[in-house]
Amino acid sequence: MRIAMVSSECEPYAKVGGLADVVDALARGLGQLGHEVDVFLPLYRGVRPPAGSHRRALAVARATDPSSADEDEGDVATVDLLTGPADGYRIRLVDHPFSYDRAGLYGETGADYPDNAARFTLLGRVALETISEEGSQIDILHGHDWEAGPALLMQRHLYASDSAVASAASVLTCHNLAYHGWVARGQAWQLELPETLGAPDGIDLLREAVAVADIVNTVSPTYAEESRTAAMGAGLDDLLRSRADRYLGIINGIDTTLWDPAADSIIPVPFSRDDLSGKQACRAELGARHGLQLGDGGWERGAPILGMIGRLDPQKGFDLLASAAPGLLEAGARIVVLGTGDPALVRGLQSLATTRPDRLVVLDRFDRDEARRIYAGADMFLMPSRFEPCGQGQMISMRYGTVPVVRATGGLVDTVRDADADPQAGTGFVFGPAEPEALVEAGRRAIAAYQDEGRWRELVQRDMALDFSWGGPAREYVAAYERAVASRRQAPLDAAQRQLA
Ligand code: GLC
Repeated sequence: MRIAMVSSECEPYAKVGGLADVVDALARGLGQLGHEVDVFLPLYRGVRPPAGSHRRALAVARATDPSSADEDEGDVATVDLLTGPADGYRIRLVDHPFSYDRAGLYGETGADYPDNAARFTLLGRVALETISEEGSQIDILHGHDWEAGPALLMQRHLYASDSAVASAASVLTCHNLAYHGWVARGQAWQLELPETLGAPDGIDLLREAVAVADIVNTVSPTYAEESRTAAMGAGLDDLLRSRADRYLGIINGIDTTLWDPAADSIIPVPFSRDDLSGKQACRAELGARHGLQLGDGGWERGAPILGMIGRLDPQKGFDLLASAAPGLLEAGARIVVLGTGDPALVRGLQSLATTRPDRLVVLDRFDRDEARRIYAGADMFLMPSRFEPCGQGQMISMRYGTVPVVRATGGLVDTVRDADADPQAGTGFVFGPAEPEALVEAGRRAIAAYQDEGRWRELVQRDMALDFSWGGPAREYVAAYERAVASRRQAPLDAAQRQLA
């Protein structure tokens, strides 16, 4: 199949969150299955096109601010498209300095750019124009999150008679329903879409894209279920329920070559399932470098290190950790937190750390290498998320023999099984209520298991043997693409039947 993806992030070019890893790894996974994938991405500031890229100018329609004095300015934009070889797919970078040569991807100092609707409309426009001009029949237009909404909507509303574009089936992947891409009516001119679209006060790009895509998916089966409920559907549950069999959950994988403790050049000592001595060395190094008091002895007597990495925001449950930390320290844990985010949360954790510097370390920064050293050196990995469409930290940590302690939500349910409830096949420790007491209780259970050296070693080795590679998920996407193609073929028929009736 030929697949054109539209995304606002893709590793190693542009990353804020897990979306970037998924788009890159999925595109590569599809490539390995023999499919041809193009990824359209803005050329943000600092993005370096791969060697061997070629550049081509493209003139595309561009909306004009109706309140602007200068009426003929802005209706056509000249954009450069850089096309180059990525790892197993083609990257197509949209170069329009006015739109993308900025300090942030989405905004600066906590505020979104006011022209984000126009910026991502341009991304979609260039993708569709390129498909149209090249005339190379694509099978699938695959958008990620609301930023791909304009592409999916323009395909239906502006390119209906352009067969190269219109014949493609569309797939929308929702990585996080918390972000909708709301465009107020007064700004809707940025979208170049029919004025009748959306609600009187504006357009919810995610909602409209969900409504129009042939197949919609999210990134785990459990989150697909949860998001059909009013409590967790972020206002889209009605629509997701009504799309019934067109809405599915496909779990993400992780890139098992990028995340491999036996071949990781950043961690102090590589290790494998059969030889865990390197993991002990990583643990000792992590503790020593941060001045953590680990006590003597190995797994049966030393204190366990709990790692937590990520955006410090309530989605990820950092507030739960802040309240639970005293109880976890009391139970004997050492804690290392790495991440940036909500200043109040950071301050709270830091002030606790000053009272127990030998037990709690808070690293308020974004640091890929340190993240690897924590995945490798910690004994347990915390993910007390309030909601989690998929999550990747739990999968990476298991691959590094670090046992996850997670809340039972979204993709965490689908990837971690409680080791007390299921001693034969358990892989971590799972708790239900989003409450600090529940986290402390799960932490205590993990620490108790850690005291039993034989049991712990078995758990570590079981986790390291799990397969989280992209092969399986990539095949599920192919199956979803096939369904999308079938329903697209059906769609014109449906319309004709409606007319007859
Ligand atoms: C979002 C979700 C996360 C998911 C990632 C990649 O960041 O919050 O759960 O793993 O997208 O799909």
